[in-house]
Amino acid sequence: MKKDKLLKIIANMTLKEKVFQLFQLNGAMITDDAVISGPMQEMNLTEDIINNMGSILGVSGAEKAIEIQKKYLEKNRHGIPLLICHDVIHGHRTTFPIPLALGCSWDSEAVKEVAKVSGAEAAVSGIHCNFSPMVDLVRDPRWGRVMESTGEDPYLNSILGKAFVEGYQGENLKEDVERVAACVKHFAAYGATEGGRDYNTVDIGISTFYDMHLPAYKAAIDAGAKTVMTSFNTINGVPATVNEWLMKDVLRKELSFDGVLFSDWGAIGETVVHGCSENGKDAAYKAMKATVDVDMMSVEYFEQLEALVLEKKIDEKYVDEAVYRILDLKDELGLFENPFRGADTAREKELLLCKKHRESSRDIARKSMVLLKNEAQVLPLKDKQKIAFVGPFISNKSIRGFWSDLGFDKDSITIEEAILNRFESKDQLVICGNHKIEIESFEEIRSTVEKAKESDVIVVALGEDQNSSGEGRCLTDIRLPGLQEELLKELYKTGKKVVVVLFNGRPLDLRAVFENSDAILEAWFPGVEGGNAVLDILFGSYNPGGKITMSFPYSVGQVPIHYNHFKTGRPSEIAGAFYKCSYLDSPHWAMLPFGYGLSYTQFQYSNFKISKGKMIKGKEESIEVTIDIKNTGLYNGEEIVQLYIQDEFGSRVRPVKELKGFKKVFLKQNEEKEIKFIINEEMLKFYTIENKIDSEVGRFKVFVGTNSAEKNSLEFELIK
Ligand code: BGC
Repeated sequence: MKKDKLLKIIANMTLKEKVFQLFQLNGAMITDDAVISGPMQEMNLTEDIINNMGSILGVSGAEKAIEIQKKYLEKNRHGIPLLICHDVIHGHRTTFPIPLALGCSWDSEAVKEVAKVSGAEAAVSGIHCNFSPMVDLVRDPRWGRVMESTGEDPYLNSILGKAFVEGYQGENLKEDVERVAACVKHFAAYGATEGGRDYNTVDIGISTFYDMHLPAYKAAIDAGAKTVMTSFNTINGVPATVNEWLMKDVLRKELSFDGVLFSDWGAIGETVVHGCSENGKDAAYKAMKATVDVDMMSVEYFEQLEALVLEKKIDEKYVDEAVYRILDLKDELGLFENPFRGADTAREKELLLCKKHRESSRDIARKSMVLLKNEAQVLPLKDKQKIAFVGPFISNKSIRGFWSDLGFDKDSITIEEAILNRFESKDQLVICGNHKIEIESFEEIRSTVEKAKESDVIVVALGEDQNSSGEGRCLTDIRLPGLQEELLKELYKTGKKVVVVLFNGRPLDLRAVFENSDAILEAWFPGVEGGNAVLDILFGSYNPGGKITMSFPYSVGQVPIHYNHFKTGRPSEIAGAFYKCSYLDSPHWAMLPFGYGLSYTQFQYSNFKISKGKMIKGKEESIEVTIDIKNTGLYNGEEIVQLYIQDEFGSRVRPVKELKGFKKVFLKQNEEKEIKFIINEEMLKFYTIENKIDSEVGRFKVFVGTNSAEKNSLEFELIK
């Protein structure tokens, strides 16, 4: 539809109708009779609002979506279709690994595939717009929502954020009805929430904001994301949802975003509770001035905007522009011509949880898992060994992870199910997996240990409840829950080889796990094919190659912790000094650094070279860095070779190192390859003291290696 047609529709709308387009309601409130009399009345919802509201969220299912749209269009006098949104975060009915695990694959094609499959399942179920990707940079594992992010690095988050958007949206949303519009969230910097507590304050410096947090939102917006969602937190003391500087100057102007801006759930109204809006009217005024287009689940827009315009406090053009953006999105989705879009009950039956999607989930789950320890090559397991499978996650079907409520536990393959499929004879197996996650009694531990003793090697599957990470799931203790560590200690005392498989949604304090095991596989919450994927790795039909994208601390006392921290005037490396930046009772570095992960094979790096020592600023020059890598182990395998740069000094303090490139290389046994990286001036830019993104002349160190703790470096200079 042409712009003038949309403008014509807007010109024919009453102010009330326009305001209602800016309101989003939970779909359950119009489909479920029980709530119509409850919440609907509480929110003062009238028939008029229901017939004219612009969008709903939380509805899925082709039949239901078609019925809602039909009824809506019968009543809407302008024939404006309803927009249906949902949170499809890591898969729809086919659940994939949680985003934090997807990050560990360092694989943009895999992420694109997850988004494409999830988008297709969502679209045929009637969803038009998906509230994903969440690209918040995260540094604090206490925060339950780290599971929704791809990690602590701005560069990697940018690459994967872009991949999510491309996978959801494809090339043309109008023609490709099995794609959905993406929503980049939570704008901005929600991951820096104080104390790792949801809905809390964010208080960060401007350079951290620009250098660390902004890049991934920018990358996802540059990739064409149609929509953005505000965050709950403050930036510079003002809640994001009413923060004019953040939304107008940064999002709309600097990032050139002209799509739909959703508030987060209830966030406009909550600015009153925040104490930054005097009342609902003030909140609506401020959010509108900040160009927030859609009020998700608070009443402020539909109760206040009309009066604000009539009283001439807000120019009607603000409302018109917001309505235009909503109608334009509906038009880009092809909803005016085809209001049911991809919703199709037959396709839904065909696609949801189909064999192909399951296979894709299994493949990507394997790519997302990280081998954290493998002493004396205890893994892969040998088929002839007598193996005990014990612990609460052997038979637990709740391994999809939070934000997967369009899937079902019953669809998940547990480790036990995968084992029973794999082994014809059960003689060599001891299975003892029906524990509660907390493991509450020592008696239970004793009997499990007795059974496990009958084996040569023990696989113990431990972890957190899938509902202890996710929104509103924050913790101050990030060790394994209940008596799990006790079980592990007792198993290790048997003298048998002990392999731990971990199911969790955040980095954990793994000190006890490292002390009491021979091997550790980080499986995260792997999705519906979790058990199969774990077994593929344990028995060596897949060689793990994932690398962690959030640092694992020694203890919760170290958090927030991240590899790309600023340099300090008293670094802890100062030998012997007491007054330095460190702890008395713990190392100050992470137990497992960003980028860490093992393989069944070994990789040897050599011949690290730089093509030249100087590059002239402004001349579009580049420097080539090369390194040879050889697979010296016993298996074919994949390594993620990482490039880090350190700016030795700058007009603002610079991080100790920053990831600027990586390559995933597959090497057969004994194979050797030269890996090449190109360094250009763009990669050296940061938010300088001049308050702009620029490079500064000076010395730089470059590191290439297997993780962010790599010490071997070469130097170059950027000169005038
Ligand atoms: C979350 C968002 C989510 C929204 C809608 C909020 O509570 O913060 O991430 O998209 O709910 O479900």
